[in-house]
Amino acid sequence: MSYKITVLPGDGIGPEITKEAVKLLDAVGETYGHNFEFQYADIGGVAVDKQGTPLPEQTVQHCESCDAILLGAVGGPKWDDETPDRKPETGLLGIRKQLNLFANLRPAIVYDSLLDASSLKRDVLDGADLLIVRELTGGLYFGKPRERREGEHGLEVIDTLHYTEAEIERIIRKAFDLARLRNKQLTSVDKANVLENSRLWREVANRVAADYPDVELSHMLVDNAAMQLVNDPKQFDTIVTENMFGDILSDIASMITGSLGMLPSASLSADGPGLYEPVHGSAPDIAGQNIANPLATLASCAMLLRYSLHLKEEADAVEEAILKTLREGYRTGDIAAIGEATVSTSEMGDIVCQQILSAS
Ligand code: NAI
Ligand code: MG
Repeated sequence: MSYKITVLPGDGIGPEITKEAVKLLDAVGETYGHNFEFQYADIGGVAVDKQGTPLPEQTVQHCESCDAILLGAVGGPKWDDETPDRKPETGLLGIRKQLNLFANLRPAIVYDSLLDASSLKRDVLDGADLLIVRELTGGLYFGKPRERREGEHGLEVIDTLHYTEAEIERIIRKAFDLARLRNKQLTSVDKANVLENSRLWREVANRVAADYPDVELSHMLVDNAAMQLVNDPKQFDTIVTENMFGDILSDIASMITGSLGMLPSASLSADGPGLYEPVHGSAPDIAGQNIANPLATLASCAMLLRYSLHLKEEADAVEEAILKTLREGYRTGDIAAIGEATVSTSEMGDIVCQQILSAS
């Protein structure tokens, strides 16, 4: 089969880590007989510098006409003083909105050979494997009105938490579909004891559950969920929640894995191409030195293969190759213990590719 992948390298370490991802997909293609066709486009600071806007129209067109999108990262101090319409982050928010990427998937996997990288105890973590599904295009971050105004008793501010029933239903359905591909346990997180939003959220989840009799649905209040994620992460399989709760909970859950350089993500729409990127940023402090950890981006490729191209065997092989590489002791600086030998970005990419090529 032939697949068209749009690559958005972006800023900082973005070009270095996406280069390894392209190498990996080529290795997967060679091993399993697929042809990946890559088209490159600018986003973020590099697009501002070259084209005067963080999200050029041609980039959007490339993204709309492909099977999946692979993004490095955007931003850096160089663009700190730009106006909002020329900020690199505006490009990222823009592409999420334009492609209607309403479902943000952040898995937190514990790698047995990196157990000591987390600040949590080994036995709390060992075997934890969960997926947070966060609503990404609605809620408090987008609701109107949003304003600061002079009130009767001085300054006052308003943010609005707004969801339609349809927006809630599509993310809940997506989460049920994803739970079905995993261990069939879905925890819906809300604040139904306080928020009207959450009460509707819970009603919709209970109604949709009737269509998924094979998936076990439970509800949890968000404050309790924050505590439970740290106390006993192994109790969770798939979690679904609204935008702001998901923002916070996914950062808590990321500490289960221990290192920012290991965390992949996917952002999906109803039926268009998905966007895959590492959770970390553009790491300007280490850009251009060939020392960044490419594994979060390579793990994002596994998600791309799984969720956009439906190539399960290939996705499993990439995840297995990363696991094996770590078990064999290869480390970039960010995940190495003090005094431990390290490999470069490109060496790490080569080793993971080699695992794929030699497994066939
Ligand atoms: P960051 O994630 O870029 O870096 C935080 C720290 O982690 C730095 O010390 C960095 O060197 C290290 N780090 C990050 N990724 C790494 C990797 N793959 N290998 C080894 N070390 C790694 O976050 P920071 O410093 O807050 O932001 C830097 C820039 O990135 C900012 O302009 C920010 O706006 C942007 N950013 C972009 C994101 C995106 O494109 N999705 C997400 C987060 C931040
Ligand atoms: Mg965040």
